[in-house]
Amino acid sequence: MNPLEQFEQEKKERIESYTRDPEFKGLSQAWISQAMRKYWVYNFTWMGRPIIQNPVDMIALQEIVWAIKPDLIIETGVAHGGSVIYSASLLELVGHGEVIGIDIDIREHNRPLIENHPMGKRLTLIEGSSIDPVVIAQVHALAAGKERVLVCLDSNHTHEHVMAELAAYASLVTPGSYCIVFDTIVEDMPPGSFPNRPWEVGDNPKTAVIEFLSAHPEFETDAHYADKLMTSLVGCGYLRRKD
Ligand SMILES: C[S@@+](CC[C@H](N)C(=O)[O-])C[C@H]1O[C@@H](n2cnc3c(N)ncnc32)[C@H](O)[C@@H]1O
Repeated sequence: MNPLEQFEQEKKERIESYTRDPEFKGLSQAWISQAMRKYWVYNFTWMGRPIIQNPVDMIALQEIVWAIKPDLIIETGVAHGGSVIYSASLLELVGHGEVIGIDIDIREHNRPLIENHPMGKRLTLIEGSSIDPVVIAQVHALAAGKERVLVCLDSNHTHEHVMAELAAYASLVTPGSYCIVFDTIVEDMPPGSFPNRPWEVGDNPKTAVIEFLSAHPEFETDAHYADKLMTSLVGCGYLRRKD
């Protein structure tokens, strides 16, 4: 085994060992649950824009974007623009590709800061509900002819909404690429953790992922990400479209 293979083998074995480590898993789950209740993921920026993401999931997205080198990333849930600017900056490093960001409410104070950002040149913003047929048609038209498409779903986290987003956009994911469904963690947190939100244990992105996978054998959870990140908000939501 050469040194590169050796390194990869050790990593594989290390990650595999975490799946048999209830203490590490329990600590990680307890920590991220507490962090979510304290809105810890609201504390960061990417290239100056507030990003509502967990840094471990950002590293996973970087790994995926570098591996796939998508020519299009479709994202639902723009908020302050941090995640779409992050994706656009990864594509800038890759050297090609563009991002479509969809949000039901792109705030007046955010829009110019996103559009005029140095990474804004790789970005198209669409204001409207991600499950509005007009928006879906617009996105499909923009995606026509793209060879490698990645989708990130991070808007309304109810089961019904995520199912509708999956119905609208999962078919655009190209073989070998990913549909990343954010905040599956809601299912594994104590009930009532999000008192002002419509999602809850039993009604959230993870329940949608489970239902979606049961009807879509062309997708699978990429256990590599689910297993190694430990404090991920996505976990089983790293959906890979099989080759
Ligand atoms: C968690 S934030 C997105 C965070 C962003 N992805 C980031 O990492 O910085 C959720 C966003 O979803 C948007 N949203 C809620 N319902 C939506 C819908 N039906 N269609 C599109 N966007 C929606 C909200 O306006 C909000 O900006």
